[in-house]
Amino acid sequence: MTEHTDVAVITRPQIRVQDSAKSFSGRTVVDVEDITFGDKPIEGLIGPNGAGKTTLMRMIMHSISLDRGTITLSPVPGDPSADVVLSRLPSHRMAGHGVVKSNQVIMDFDKLTILDSLLLACAHHRYEQPHRIFEEQRVYNEGIEEITQYLEFFSFPDPYGFALSAGEKKLLDIVRCLLLKPKVLLLDEPTAGLSDEATEQVMHVVRDLAASGTSVVIVEHDLNVIWNLCDEVHFMAEGSILMRGTPDEIREHKTVIEKYLGEGHV
Ligand SMILES: Nc1ncnc2c1ncn2[C@@H]1O[C@H](COP(=O)(O)OP(=O)(O)OP(=O)(O)O)[C@@H](O)[C@H]1O
Ligand SMILES: [Mg+2]
Repeated sequence: MTEHTDVAVITRPQIRVQDSAKSFSGRTVVDVEDITFGDKPIEGLIGPNGAGKTTLMRMIMHSISLDRGTITLSPVPGDPSADVVLSRLPSHRMAGHGVVKSNQVIMDFDKLTILDSLLLACAHHRYEQPHRIFEEQRVYNEGIEEITQYLEFFSFPDPYGFALSAGEKKLLDIVRCLLLKPKVLLLDEPTAGLSDEATEQVMHVVRDLAASGTSVVIVEHDLNVIWNLCDEVHFMAEGSILMRGTPDEIREHKTVIEKYLGEGHV
């Protein structure tokens, strides 16, 4: 009998954005015809400041309303019966469907310690009243092991204290996302303000997550992160996705150089 050594095929969740637009004060900032995220494990979304990247991520999360369009999650591509129309869901239901986003602008954790913030993330799915996590020993015990692993991995100096530096807050937000066990993880400038070491650590956990079947979309201006991490890159400018391709195709493309990278980029 021949041993079967093929690597198991991982079905990757996809998000499709169709004919979707958003304007602010009459100015269209996103107008996307038809794009799919999740064809590849880790996809980048790059483009100049104001291109509409964060707005597009927020449209997917439905944390802002759409002027028009449909955004669909296919947890099992090829099985339309499992599709979920995200653009009809309230944003607080996204995590329940495995769609999770980190924030470009650092969230305010001033009122909770690092540990309590993360315990709250663990409680998100399980309790209608998430504050009960602080009372329930069993859930605390379940959550604390995973939390401790992340806190040690990222070397948080004092989990019982508050996240003080911008970098700590950024990492805390990323760990919060990981604890939600995302099927699709949208990362909006996850490494902005992080040390080189912490950036490497974030890249490491993102690779692990993608290898386990999560679809990752990462918005970044640190292009070393994009070129090193992504299997595919979408280029966005003036509200539209102008092209997609491999990192090499995108970094060498005339339009990307003209509109974003500039001549002589490395
Ligand atoms: N809530 C808002 N009200 C008004 N205008 C907004 C709002 N959010 C975004 N915009 C505008 O929409 C445009 C796109 O912004 P967005 O934040 O999506 O860009 P971005 O590609 O994420 O840029 P960056 O790389 O600087 O983060 C910008 O001109 C911005 O000023
Ligand atoms: Mg942005």
